[in-house]
Amino acid sequence: MRLKKLSRDFALEASGVDLAQPLSDGAFREIEEAFFAGQVLVLRGQKLTAREFLEFARRFGPPEPHVVDQFHHPEYADILILSNVVRDGQPAGLADAGTYFHTDYSYLDMPARATLLYSIQVPKVGGDTLFADQYAAYDGLPDSLKKKIENLVALHHYGNRDDLDKSSRTVASVLSQEQEQKMTWVRHRVARKHPVTRRTALYAVSGSSFGIEGMPEDEAVDLLDELKHHATQEKYQLRLKYGVGDVVIWDNASLLHSATLIDPNDPRTLWRITIKETRRQA
Ligand code: SIN
Repeated sequence: MRLKKLSRDFALEASGVDLAQPLSDGAFREIEEAFFAGQVLVLRGQKLTAREFLEFARRFGPPEPHVVDQFHHPEYADILILSNVVRDGQPAGLADAGTYFHTDYSYLDMPARATLLYSIQVPKVGGDTLFADQYAAYDGLPDSLKKKIENLVALHHYGNRDDLDKSSRTVASVLSQEQEQKMTWVRHRVARKHPVTRRTALYAVSGSSFGIEGMPEDEAVDLLDELKHHATQEKYQLRLKYGVGDVVIWDNASLLHSATLIDPNDPRTLWRITIKETRRQA
């Protein structure tokens, strides 16, 4: 496997790997190390069946099916279909999967470790994913702010703090009443140690964080907004472009990511698998 940097600070592209072939434990360990080191790991031009994609994803940990169950893959519920294609008046998948900075499953007590996308249909224009490095964002905070947030715990719920309008494309994917009932409030540290690398990163300061324990709501939202503006600055971002067959794996504990809005008539389809964390974060 050869690795190429996709930006100065993070994101790696691996070549010389065919994920349709059996992968030894040693070869997988190399991929896993590159994933934790790069935070985003891209393997271009793969040719995978749904089963092969799922088998590869399972090497990273236990997949957790998305609460939006109407767009699960018909054979494999662990695969969520992201697609803006409409067939016979029916959406083929989830059209806008988080067009705002967020990190996956931060609304769950045990959030996501990794998310994998497999790109099937690439639009003529756009369809990129943005990533923001939350290790660098934490490192770039003034010492006074690092001290202020040191022991703060944020309160998270499914949704996008910045947009609760269900008719908007930048709201979190709208849930049915039954799906909503499965959602509860959970707590995560604002600055968390990564469960594997032990580096501190800002965690989900955009997206599902709606408050801070023990802090009046307006003060908490002001602080979260200040952190979000800091954490999503362009200097921490990478824009990833897809080709057909690309597999992308990202580290949800050290990144924020955002889908980008595209023309709903320009077809884009990807399969997504999200792997749950199994270790408690400090
Ligand atoms: C996601 O947030 O899971 C999807 C990202 C994308 O569609 O670009």
